[in-house]
Amino acid sequence: MMEKIEGIIQAPMAGVQDGELAVAVASAGGLGSLPCGMFSADIPQKPSRQPFSHAMGDALESFKPRIVSFHYGLPEKNLLDRVKSWGTIVLSTATTVAEAEWLEAHGADGIIAQGVEAGGHRGMFLSKDVTTQVGTMALIPQIVKATQLPVIAAGGIADASGVRAVLELGAVAAQVGTAYLLCHEAKTRSVHCQALKSDMIRHTVLTTLFSGGEARGMVNRLIRELGPMADVAPPYPLASAALAPIRAAAEAQGSGDFSPLWAGQNARGCKEISAAELTRELALGLT
Ligand SMILES: Cc1cc2nc3c(=O)[nH]c(=O)nc-3n(C[C@H](O)[C@H](O)[C@H](O)COP(=O)(O)O)c2cc1C
Repeated sequence: MMEKIEGIIQAPMAGVQDGELAVAVASAGGLGSLPCGMFSADIPQKPSRQPFSHAMGDALESFKPRIVSFHYGLPEKNLLDRVKSWGTIVLSTATTVAEAEWLEAHGADGIIAQGVEAGGHRGMFLSKDVTTQVGTMALIPQIVKATQLPVIAAGGIADASGVRAVLELGAVAAQVGTAYLLCHEAKTRSVHCQALKSDMIRHTVLTTLFSGGEARGMVNRLIRELGPMADVAPPYPLASAALAPIRAAAEAQGSGDFSPLWAGQNARGCKEISAAELTRELALGLT
């Protein structure tokens, strides 16, 4: 089990990638991921943000993936048993030691320990209190001690030295998201790419404005004017649809003022190179 998930994992990143990125990462020996958060079971790529359902299980069953990773805990027991009956390894994200212990007690095979530095949505599911969130360097060793499961580190890892550091802390693998955003095979929108290449990378915050869920992104006009955690944001996932018209209008004018510009705290690692090349660079930290 452990050797199957050692190494470099490209984080699933809804909205900025498709299979091309995952295949490029795999071609260099990494584990590519396909995000399902914005897919519906019957019409791939139609936004849905449904919780994992039997209909999604049907869609997955046709190709029985070797690894499935969940965000926000685990699906209900009969669905989890169904996924495991395919021989699939089940991973899920923990953002605190308590969540890691919960995942171990409820049947996960491995834990993605997501430090607060990470870009995109936080996998927090036992608490909505962002003050519970822990940095990668503090989170990894504590989860390694608290559980028997293999731990995959995520959050702020952008180069070989970061990979080396998390292995030293006891992780078996590094899951990297932000650093892949400018790779040739990513589908990151142009307003997002421009922000990643600007000084905006110096300031990221946790915000609920764009989906209703806590997520880390670069500070833009919407965040500046409403504040990152404004009560006006509809609950997850409804805020996305509420913002869609103004976001589309702004993006049509080349503006990312109302777009979710997801990025982690270490966005300086983003390079305009192929994902295979980035994967090979990251993998130097494994030896
Ligand atoms: C643009 C973007 C989209 C993301 N979307 C997802 C997603 O759909 N599912 C998921 O499990 N994690 C998602 N994440 C979080 C990653 O799985 C991972 O925790 C994070 O990227 C690691 O930190 P890093 O960004 O500092 O490398 C996303 C991250 C980013 C940057």
